[in-house]
Amino acid sequence: MREKSAIILAAGDGKRMKSKYPKAMCEVLFVPMISWVLNWCNKSGINNICVVVGKDKEVIEGILPEGVEVVEQKERLGTGHAVMMAEDFIEKHVNDDIIVLYADAPFIDDKTILASLQQHREQHAQMTIISAQVDNPFGYGRIVRKSGMVKAIVEEKDADDSIRNIKEINSGTYWFRGDFLRNSLKRIDCNNAQKEYYITDAAKIAGKMGKLVTAYKAKDKNVVLGANDRKGLLALNKIAKEMVIGKLLDEGVELVSDDGVVIGWDVKIGRDTKILPGTIIKGSVSIGEDCVIGPNTLIEDSVIGNGCTINSSQIYSSTVGNEVRIGPNSHLRPNSKVGDRVKIGNFVEIKNSTLGEKTSVAHLTYIGDSDVGKRCNFGCGSVMVNYDGHKKFRTTVGDDVFIGCNSNLVAPVVVEDGAYTAAGSTITNNVEKDALAIARARQVNKAGWAKGFHDSYKLKK
Ligand code: UD1
Ligand code: CA
Repeated sequence: MREKSAIILAAGDGKRMKSKYPKAMCEVLFVPMISWVLNWCNKSGINNICVVVGKDKEVIEGILPEGVEVVEQKERLGTGHAVMMAEDFIEKHVNDDIIVLYADAPFIDDKTILASLQQHREQHAQMTIISAQVDNPFGYGRIVRKSGMVKAIVEEKDADDSIRNIKEINSGTYWFRGDFLRNSLKRIDCNNAQKEYYITDAAKIAGKMGKLVTAYKAKDKNVVLGANDRKGLLALNKIAKEMVIGKLLDEGVELVSDDGVVIGWDVKIGRDTKILPGTIIKGSVSIGEDCVIGPNTLIEDSVIGNGCTINSSQIYSSTVGNEVRIGPNSHLRPNSKVGDRVKIGNFVEIKNSTLGEKTSVAHLTYIGDSDVGKRCNFGCGSVMVNYDGHKKFRTTVGDDVFIGCNSNLVAPVVVEDGAYTAAGSTITNNVEKDALAIARARQVNKAGWAKGFHDSYKLKK
């Protein structure tokens, strides 16, 4: 069996996007378009991948997985020229089936890639174009057929009226036999309206060489969509958002309204969980069943258990157990681990800390760099004082500890199981098991003081 290899064209600058970054870095559902394309290649079992990058090559290289080859196209002379930059890669894979994809078309999927490959192999074609029948073909290359057979791809700018009326368009993804790709590149010229080397000319060249070109019509029109400018990008985001929400609804997730709800492609949500308006869930996130998430919540790269309520809060790179209540207006910063049935109320910040099950942090509290046990209670306004201006230190709190309101625990410090800290204490020494720590001046009441104070002013007048 021939191997599968891929060349991804990503040398386009962001000119039409009005971006200072390469176009391939423009995001759909918070993921750069090139990462979508790489992901589909990966899912299709394509292991040999070469990416053609342009002038800001470090930006793209920075997000490529290991093992992906990179070549540079110094001048942007067209898609055919971009493929020519991968000459050495093509030579190495001359006996493979090579797919050429564009980094600005993120919805091409593994199903389409593999079904078109199957057709390509069964029909012994030299080139198989993934095409689609669309209502508005404007801007795309058109598939020109004669007696049903593919003869050429003609760009919008090179087309006459009869060709512009064709509604079968070129998706910009093609399978080639490696040897045909190598040979056809030598014959591509730039005699066209844009004075560019078009990879699409390979279709016409195949005809001249007496080689077979076919088109695989995509079953789903969306897979061919690309974005050239910000309006196109927003359109792709809308489509992707609907695809994700549609899939989640089918799986039993509940939405009263999808206003302001944006959920990333890699998010998993259990059934009977409700997502309320204004909620953004991105990156690698898994949420259990029977949760209520939102309104106005942001969750990124985190795991949330079953039966949780997360209201108007933000959670980053953290793990939350079952039946946890968070919010409104709280913030879990990276590397926080929250146990089952914990309660985190309003205006609470947790960072790089562990909270054992049933611990309650109900109001206006900062827990940073701390390891907290089970069933603790943090009074309003408690602060873990973790930073001395140079270094961070950890605080350890055992099980069943009661931290009085407005306590400061100055790290490094340990409060053992069952201990109390009195309200308003600044704890600088360890507190042993079951003890009460009071670290504030004893109260003195001066009888009649206030009256005397006011009288002294009256006398001066
Ligand atoms: C291209 C196709 C068109 C197809 C459409 C689908 C050609 C000539 N035309 O048009 O038939 O319908 O895609 O979306 O191929 N790139 C480079 N180097 C270059 C030029 C482009 O790497 O010198 C990359 C771009 O980054 C982009 C891709 O190739 O990812 C396509 O280029 P673009 O200019 O967007 O082509 P379209 O005009 O959209
Ligand atoms: Ca394009």
